[in-house]
Amino acid sequence: MKKTKIFADANLVIGQVSPTLYGSFIEHLGRAVYEGIYEPGHPTADENGFRGDVIALIKELNVPIVRYPGGNFVSGYDWKDGIGPREGRPVRLDLAWHTTETNEFGTDEFIKWCKKAGIEPMMAVNMGTGSIRDAAQLVEYCNHPGGTAISDLRRANGAEEPYGVKYWCIGNEMDGPWQIGHLSADEYGKKALEAAKVMRWTNGETDDGALNGKLKLIVSGSSNHEMKTFPEWDRIVLEHTFEQVDFLSMHRYYEYDRTGERPLEDFFGAPDDMNVYINTLKATLEYVRAKVRSEKRVYLSFDEWNIWTQSSKRKEPLWKKAPHLLEDVYTFRDALVFAGLMNTLLNNCDAVRIGCLAQLVNVIAPIMTEKGGRTFKQSIFYPFRYLSGYARGETVRTFSDSDLFPNKYGAARFINEAVNYDPATRTLVVSLCNFAQDKREIELELRSFGKLSPLEYAEMTSPDLDAVNGFDGERVVPQERELPAVKDGSRVTLTLPPMSWSFLRFSC
Ligand code: AHR
Repeated sequence: MKKTKIFADANLVIGQVSPTLYGSFIEHLGRAVYEGIYEPGHPTADENGFRGDVIALIKELNVPIVRYPGGNFVSGYDWKDGIGPREGRPVRLDLAWHTTETNEFGTDEFIKWCKKAGIEPMMAVNMGTGSIRDAAQLVEYCNHPGGTAISDLRRANGAEEPYGVKYWCIGNEMDGPWQIGHLSADEYGKKALEAAKVMRWTNGETDDGALNGKLKLIVSGSSNHEMKTFPEWDRIVLEHTFEQVDFLSMHRYYEYDRTGERPLEDFFGAPDDMNVYINTLKATLEYVRAKVRSEKRVYLSFDEWNIWTQSSKRKEPLWKKAPHLLEDVYTFRDALVFAGLMNTLLNNCDAVRIGCLAQLVNVIAPIMTEKGGRTFKQSIFYPFRYLSGYARGETVRTFSDSDLFPNKYGAARFINEAVNYDPATRTLVVSLCNFAQDKREIELELRSFGKLSPLEYAEMTSPDLDAVNGFDGERVVPQERELPAVKDGSRVTLTLPPMSWSFLRFSC
């Protein structure tokens, strides 16, 4: 059996894991909102129509922040359509997804839902058809106490107190020709700078400080690193906006080629490829920081990431309300790569301070719902839940002698790991993916954490890579394994099954 040695030392810290790394995303797309988080008449719905069964699952995932209302949708969205008495709200064509938007659910409902679910809102403003004025007025609607036409609208709509929304995305994927109102890097950079400035002024921020705390602004980076304009887009946009923004956004979806034309290794190479993407943007941030002579730091907001079979064909007719769109059912194979992507995010927590799993319910999501009925947890639910539950505190650097496999991105490690230590709870977490088709022996040496005692050892594996969960039952779930022995308080030997994800938790 091949052996891999992994070494970590408590003193070699990569960075703190920001709680917002475990965020997610709800877009007006398919059944994410309607029949997802909002379904009046559902047996578990409250007086607002918010599904209680869905909120319970979201709480299980420990999601602290949710991005809303899009995504591509936001680039054609007029937020004023979604406020005020429901009977007066216009029904519109949504050109991003070719559906009909009733506007039954809008900003006020989202904020109310966030409060109920214990979630921080991360709002996106429209930089496609929307103006700087629209963006600033949404900030005014949400955050100004009252006494102006716009803030009094919120009060008239039942919210006396301002919402105090802190996180704002300035548009979405503006580099993509598929975006409503797509712009060049230079055009977007200039518009984003002005939007950022005016949004901050509206929030009461001056050179002397801020009335309600400063906004955290996220400027749109490249839609993914396969765009021809990457990373020039990011450089240009950052050169315009560096002093005004806090985060640069990045998005990436990986896909398993179901036609069989591309080998499995290309899919298994995703976590290491994501690492290259993040590191290119870390370098771009450093370059621009030096170029504009800035003393501040801009971080990364990986506010759309997941696995998505983008090549699957739409089956629903155009202009339907809440159609079944992007309802990927995740396999065990997906869960394994997903765990590797989470390891990559954790290993880059020094720069990636926000992560949004895209999306949260029904649309490429860990949670699926039935209209009027049940829910189920997808395979990807589990790595997210385990890591969001326990991979807290700081990520520690690891050194490994894993062998490599070739794939379309280059070479990737068979054994992919993340080690996290939370000093507050003295908990150490190890997440390990084995992408090899044979079992592997792992020798872990976890130094300077104190004497380790094992608390939990869970493993996900399956003889059938295509195994999925469904309303009829869950087949892809972690299994508890017998706790491993710890030698000299710091050394652990494990046998990982072929193609598996393992999660270990120790107290120390
Ligand atoms: O999450 C689905 C879509 O993917 C989003 O609307 C868009 O931003 C991205 O291309």
